[in-house]
Amino acid sequence: MYSYIINGGKRLNGEIDISGSKNASLPILAASILNKGIVKLYNVPEIEDINVTVKILEHLNCKIKRNKNKLVLDSSQMQLKMIPEELMRKLRSSVILVGSLISRFGKASFSYPGGCDIGSRPIDLHLNSFRKMGIRITENEGRIECSTEEIQSVQIHLDFPSVGATENIILASCLTNGKIITIGNAAREPEIVDLCNFLIKMGVSISGAGTSFIKIIGREDLKDISYNIMPDRIEAGTYLVAGCMTRGNVKLNKVNPEHLKPVLYKLEEAGCIVIVDKNSVTLKMTKRPNKLEIKTLPYPGFPTDMQAIFGSLLMIAKGTSTITENIFENRFKYAGELSRLGARFKQEGNLLIIEGRRRLSGTVVKSTDLRGGAALILAGLCAKGQTQVDDAEYVLRGYDKIDQKLRQLGADIQLQKQ
Ligand code: EPZ
Repeated sequence: MYSYIINGGKRLNGEIDISGSKNASLPILAASILNKGIVKLYNVPEIEDINVTVKILEHLNCKIKRNKNKLVLDSSQMQLKMIPEELMRKLRSSVILVGSLISRFGKASFSYPGGCDIGSRPIDLHLNSFRKMGIRITENEGRIECSTEEIQSVQIHLDFPSVGATENIILASCLTNGKIITIGNAAREPEIVDLCNFLIKMGVSISGAGTSFIKIIGREDLKDISYNIMPDRIEAGTYLVAGCMTRGNVKLNKVNPEHLKPVLYKLEEAGCIVIVDKNSVTLKMTKRPNKLEIKTLPYPGFPTDMQAIFGSLLMIAKGTSTITENIFENRFKYAGELSRLGARFKQEGNLLIIEGRRRLSGTVVKSTDLRGGAALILAGLCAKGQTQVDDAEYVLRGYDKIDQKLRQLGADIQLQKQ
């Protein structure tokens, strides 16, 4: 087991480069097998979720060469095989591969991804959409078998703008020869736009990416391409909040400020000075943050992935703040761990009422999930004394070298094997 050991009290100062987006890289990796040829990906983050996805694709005989942030995939000799349970279970978002495998092989077999640390994570929107597209779905002993002779043209309307369901429908629609699939109430996240830009470059006809209405016209043969993954907006938001909490002065390079708007707006409301340039954001903070009201919503609303990070910030803000989590049903688990550092809050269903404290005090805490673990690290940066964040594996899933980047900004943090 790994832990982060943090000695708090250092103001963050300096600049770092933000890595490529985890949540864009995963569906784009799935899409990289559709051209049955070569794909070169740049700016891929070095994180565990990518490692597991690479292992699954290699298990299916996709040849992958990797050099830090660059991946070269050759999917020409891929074969469809059963994906081992333990690999599927390691990756919550492995369900994204299903749409691609159905496109490529006409079938896919996988086990329910299972709930995770933030909620039950159902996939009914994925499966119901697949059925409407002419994909047969059967379930036996916890495994789901999908198969189709031919995807049908169809108009789909999602009950909820699910990111994963939108991505899976798009991926299952790419290799149909001229069939037209439309998605109403589609997710509008920037990661959907990045996936669609990748597929358009491969030769798929897609319109409406980034809006609630997306239209896909598939084609049988797609081109070999190179592609640069978009910056990770959640990683960027995490370091901006770290700069705010430590009353520092941080500059993030290689970001897309457009994707950060809901977060930058809230940071300015908290009292931060935010300077935006073409591909960089600078944040300065000299005082205790103001209280805030946060409500998570689908993009372009405030992102649920930033909820725990702001929860950490608000634990030291002036006055009483509230957070309403409207996307996942169990995404406040991190707050219990923060209370061990002295944080005070009350939870009423999907509402968290936070009494800001002037100072937190370091102790041993446990990561509850990916973003909850990051929230605990941020609290440790500004707590008195030493904070040990256990179960660091959660954080390693989705943050590329977070300890190195924080040290580069002046934090006293080490990743240690226990
Ligand atoms: C993606 O998850 C992201 N993961 C999540 O980031 C992110 O929090 C989420 O989108 C929302 O923005 C990746 O992209 C790999 P959803 P996804 O389908 O696709 C319900 C992180 O920290 N739902 O938009 O699973 C679901 O239960 C991760 O990086 C159904 O009811 O999210 C949830 O309440 C965490 N039925 C809501 O929709 C379905 O079939 C949003 O889920 C699918 C989803």
